[in-house]
Amino acid sequence: LAGERIIVVSNREPYIHSKKDGEIQVHRPASGLVTAVEPVMRACSGTWVAHGGGSADRETVDSHDRVRVPPNSQEYNLRRIWLTKEEEEGYYYGFANEGLWPLCHIAHVRPIFRTSDWREYVRINQRFADAVVKESDSENPVVLVQDYHFALLPEMIRRALPKATIITFWHIPWPNPESFGICPWREELLKGMLGSTILGFHTPYHCKNFLETVDRYLETRIEHESSTISRRGQLTMVESYPISIQWPPPWQGTLPPVEQTRYEMLAALGLPAGHLLGIGVDRMDYTKGILERFTAVERMLELHPELVGHFTLIQIAAPSRSALEEYQSFEARVHALAERINRRFSREGCQAIILKAEHHEPEEVNRYYRSAQVCMVTSLHDGMNLVAKEFVAARDDEQGVLVLSQFTGAAHELHESLIVNPYHVEQTAEALHQALTMPEYEQQERMRSMRAMVRDFNVYRWAGRMLLDAARIRQRERLAV
Ligand code: G6P
Repeated sequence: LAGERIIVVSNREPYIHSKKDGEIQVHRPASGLVTAVEPVMRACSGTWVAHGGGSADRETVDSHDRVRVPPNSQEYNLRRIWLTKEEEEGYYYGFANEGLWPLCHIAHVRPIFRTSDWREYVRINQRFADAVVKESDSENPVVLVQDYHFALLPEMIRRALPKATIITFWHIPWPNPESFGICPWREELLKGMLGSTILGFHTPYHCKNFLETVDRYLETRIEHESSTISRRGQLTMVESYPISIQWPPPWQGTLPPVEQTRYEMLAALGLPAGHLLGIGVDRMDYTKGILERFTAVERMLELHPELVGHFTLIQIAAPSRSALEEYQSFEARVHALAERINRRFSREGCQAIILKAEHHEPEEVNRYYRSAQVCMVTSLHDGMNLVAKEFVAARDDEQGVLVLSQFTGAAHELHESLIVNPYHVEQTAEALHQALTMPEYEQQERMRSMRAMVRDFNVYRWAGRMLLDAARIRQRERLAV
């Protein structure tokens, strides 16, 4: 694919411009998708098409709604699409986040399917498809479609550009056919996705669920050996590509040693040297198991009273989708639970849980990763979860323990973490205690293996494998003509 200009399309943009006190600022959103795809885009250049949602986004684009990013090095184009409040409500908040998000995560939040939301979803998918077609300068571009906001896009692009190579990556889980089947527009969504040349999921299990769903609801031919679906002459290869992060990490070799970072962090928090820290980093989202995590901390302190006053969990929870009621009530529950546990277990100058419900830039998050003895990832269901991998990458001292939910894609790769079922409070509490008391040599052994895994299977490999598969398919098609 050398020399090809790649077009990425996602809902969330990699850089958001906003205005504060009359000044334009830029920040990076809390999004696993953006974390993973951005370094790939910098390596490939091309165009990224996304929703312009920042308050100063319009002021920073040219007359074609494009801006060069990253702000300092300007390596690729960000082409922004504007949505009205109503469009955002129907397509993004409504169908994508009240419908597809709970549908695919099966996190015991009932999906809501409104016909009006669906109509907006269809309309906005078409708007993005038109933009992609406009941005492409050949009849067979390589387009990378990202996530559940755009299930219909592959088919729409295919109609306008029959020869395009369309790689769609679904960043969230794919449920079993019974669960997916409650969606009133299941056939339309599946047909839309089958406009893709390649359809990627994080794990073989999600691929299997997808193939079974297609088998149940559509007339197609499925070639199980090659994991290919054929529908009306269009072939779609369904494959697992576990997503990852940049390696080496961007800050490699530029940071003070872990000991110093921890020392400064404890001082800033007013905590004594030797105080134990846990870290949780999530969007404020009901799929992340934040309530279960807090309950496990509470149980651990009940079972091990010697740690009361000597351990603090710092929970970063970036505000997310807060226009939705489900997210508002979840946030209220998270605050209430933290307060209740703190009333029981905080000691003079030391809270059991410090809840930071605000946005943090990646450098800050990294300082927390480097200061903590343990990182807790307790998602109730998660496609991959890149926090787990970021924590591992942050620990160049080869210390620190990862407590990881078995319901994440990451648990299939990071076998040396302490794997837990977050619904099992006792087990998670015990894993947290084990992490806090683990000998250094064991931490090192586990951390070394996990670091080798993240290093070898980094995000360039994720993108490289997909692009290589795409190049093979393109070559086959060319030779067949
Ligand atoms: C998940 C989704 C991404 C999304 C991110 C942040 O990782 O798979 O598509 O960008 O959450 O959510 P938001 O709604 O803020 O984009």
